[in-house]
Amino acid sequence: MQPDVTLQPLNQGLAPALFALTDCNRRFLREWLPWLDQVRTVDDTRHFIESAERMAASNSAPTFAIIHAGDLCGVTGFHSINKPHGTGSIGYWLGQDHTGQGIATTAVRQLITIGFTECDLNRIEIRCAVNNRQSRALPERLGFIHEGTLRQSERLYGRFVDQVLYSLLASDSHASTSGTGK
Ligand SMILES: CC(C)(COP(=O)(O)OP(=O)(O)OC[C@H]1O[C@@H](n2cnc3c(N)ncnc32)[C@H](O)[C@@H]1OP(=O)(O)O)[C@@H](O)C(=O)NCCC(=O)NCCS
Repeated sequence: MQPDVTLQPLNQGLAPALFALTDCNRRFLREWLPWLDQVRTVDDTRHFIESAERMAASNSAPTFAIIHAGDLCGVTGFHSINKPHGTGSIGYWLGQDHTGQGIATTAVRQLITIGFTECDLNRIEIRCAVNNRQSRALPERLGFIHEGTLRQSERLYGRFVDQVLYSLLASDSHASTSGTGK
C-alpha cells in the first residue's frame, strides 16, 4: 500500500517547520547533501524558499514540501528545468524518522507526473552519489534507466564523489507512475 503523501508548494509559512526538520536531521542529511552548512538559521531557510519560489515562477521548476499524515517530512523538487530541451533534474530528502515507509518514492512518483504533464518534460534525470544506496533505490524502484557514472561530479565537504546518472523518458513514464513502486 502506498503511504498517503501530498506535495505542497513551498511557501514562507513553512519556513519555521522546514528549518526545524533540517536542523534536527543535520547529521543524517550532511552525509549526502552539500548544503547543510549554509543553513544555520530560519532566515537561511527563508532565503532557500524565496529562491525556490523564484525558480518556480521564472523557470517553472517547482519545489514541494512532502507532507505525510499532516506532518512535514522532507522536500522534493526540480533542481533545474531546461525548457528548450524538455529536461529536468530531481532532488529529494526526508527527515530520518520518516524513512523506510515509501514516503519519498511516493512523493517522487507524484513529482514525475507533474514533470511530464504540467512542466511538459520529455526527460527527467536523477543523480545519486554512487555509494548512496537509499537514494539509488528510488530511481531503480521507479523504473529509471541507469545511464552511467559521472566521475567526481559532486563536491561533498571537500571530497569529490562519483554520481550515478538515471533517466526516465516521457515515452517510458508508464513504469514510474503506475507501478507498485515497492
Ligand atoms: C534518499 C532518501 C529520501 C530515501 O529514503 P527512504 O525512506 O529509503 O525512501 P522511501 O521513503 O521511498 O522508502 C523506501 C523504504 O520504505 C520501504 N517501503 C515501505 N512501503 C513502501 C512503498 N509503498 N513504496 C516504496 N517503498 C516502501 C521500502 O522497502 C524501503 O525500505 P528499505 O530501505 O528498508 O528497503 C533518504 O534516505 C534521505 O533523505 N537521505 C538523505 C538525503 C539524500 O541522500 N538525498 C538524495 C540525494 S541524491
